[in-house]
Amino acid sequence: MEQTKVVLNDKEMPKKWYNILADMPTPMRPPLHPGTGKPVGPDDLAPVFPMNLIEQEVSQKRWIDIPDAVLEKYLLWRPTPLCRARNFEKLLGAPVKIYYKNEGVSPAGSHKPNTAVPQAYYNKVFGIKRLATETGAGQWGSALAMACKIFDLECRVYMVRVSYEQKPYRRLMMNTWGAECIPSPSTLTNAGKQVLAAHPDSPGSLGIAISEAVEDAVTHQNSRYALGSVLNHVLLHQTIIGLEAQKQLKKIGVYPDVVIGCAGGGSNFAGIALPYARDKVHGKKVSIIAAEPSSCPTMTKGPFAYDFGDLAKMTPLLCMYTLGHDFVPAPIHAGGLRYHGMAPIVSHLVKEKVMEARAYNQMETFDAGVKWARSECFIPAPETNHAIAAVVDEAMRAKEEGKEKVILFDWSGHGLVDLAAYDAYLSGKLQQYDLPDEEIQRALKAIEGLPKP
Ligand SMILES: Cc1ncc(COP(=O)(O)O)c(C=O)c1O
Repeated sequence: MEQTKVVLNDKEMPKKWYNILADMPTPMRPPLHPGTGKPVGPDDLAPVFPMNLIEQEVSQKRWIDIPDAVLEKYLLWRPTPLCRARNFEKLLGAPVKIYYKNEGVSPAGSHKPNTAVPQAYYNKVFGIKRLATETGAGQWGSALAMACKIFDLECRVYMVRVSYEQKPYRRLMMNTWGAECIPSPSTLTNAGKQVLAAHPDSPGSLGIAISEAVEDAVTHQNSRYALGSVLNHVLLHQTIIGLEAQKQLKKIGVYPDVVIGCAGGGSNFAGIALPYARDKVHGKKVSIIAAEPSSCPTMTKGPFAYDFGDLAKMTPLLCMYTLGHDFVPAPIHAGGLRYHGMAPIVSHLVKEKVMEARAYNQMETFDAGVKWARSECFIPAPETNHAIAAVVDEAMRAKEEGKEKVILFDWSGHGLVDLAAYDAYLSGKLQQYDLPDEEIQRALKAIEGLPKP
């Protein structure tokens, strides 16, 4: 019998997160205060995040201890299995070995609890009683709802309206874990009211929902905001994925030629990729590929620029690939990939050519996801289908070149709560949507007056 899974026992789970800031090939550009144009300091962020997470956000320490209380909760589903996708390999008929890290085994069904649990923990020990957040597809909202329940915090989630309507079961997961879920744009915040006044039918976007959640957090007592992607500390927490994968592949004497993840704000991709990016910075040969939607082509079509993280311009200016903060992506089913910007760490490493990005359209991603479901049997989240489309792409390139390749990718979540999207695809209702260049040009006008990197 050939080995299909590599598992770690509880004691082998990594006890530290890896911080790439200690190994960056060139210095990153700092976040700027929009008023002064100067780098933001910890005090600027204090109304929004607890100081212990702000310290992590700016830390240059290479290894950061995972607190015992977090390790204990990680053990509910971690270490996650590393699996060889032999059935998918056969179906593709290409000279590739495909390994995937199954992050869909967490209680919320994705990688998001890897950061939700430590974020709730750090807020709790800082004395915070309540968290507000946004969610796209609902994966992050449900993960934070679960983490807040673990550490006894109140939780309010602003969920992008189009996903709220497409995915009622995600809302019910949040409610089951005791959180409140509000469709965004809403009338609970000034940011939401302004959008609704201009566009009463707005499908919402992550940029709008972030504005609502930040405003909510800073206007309620003992509250803070939690973000499910993009920021340095979020990517740091996700590195447990890649660190485990490295241990697992080492056990079977394998090093990947290609590492792949889908990218919305960049957190699961960074999670699997950053430990390999470290190796690459130190001379190892490995391709690292982020897969994004062609309807929201942040890294493949957007400029590397300073921009706000949200529509209402409440966040600091981040140096990143961006489509402009007022860009509202088409309501594709991969709700978690509909974000105008990209994690500054990922953006910097793409700019430095340590990583690269490729865009895939909704039809090809569902085609890849259904092939996966019909061979490996686990049904992937629509976001994860982008990573699978990139795996297919790499496998076909290997076939053309007649070269053997080992591919590792992050299977970021299951799609059992996204079956309406599969229904649309299987019944032929899903359409190809290509973003017109004029729309990108229009949206980028919003960043014209901002500082340049
Ligand atoms: C299953 C899944 N994969 C990927 C993503 C994209 O987020 P990120 O780029 O932060 O990993 C999401 C976001 O909601 C998700 O739910």
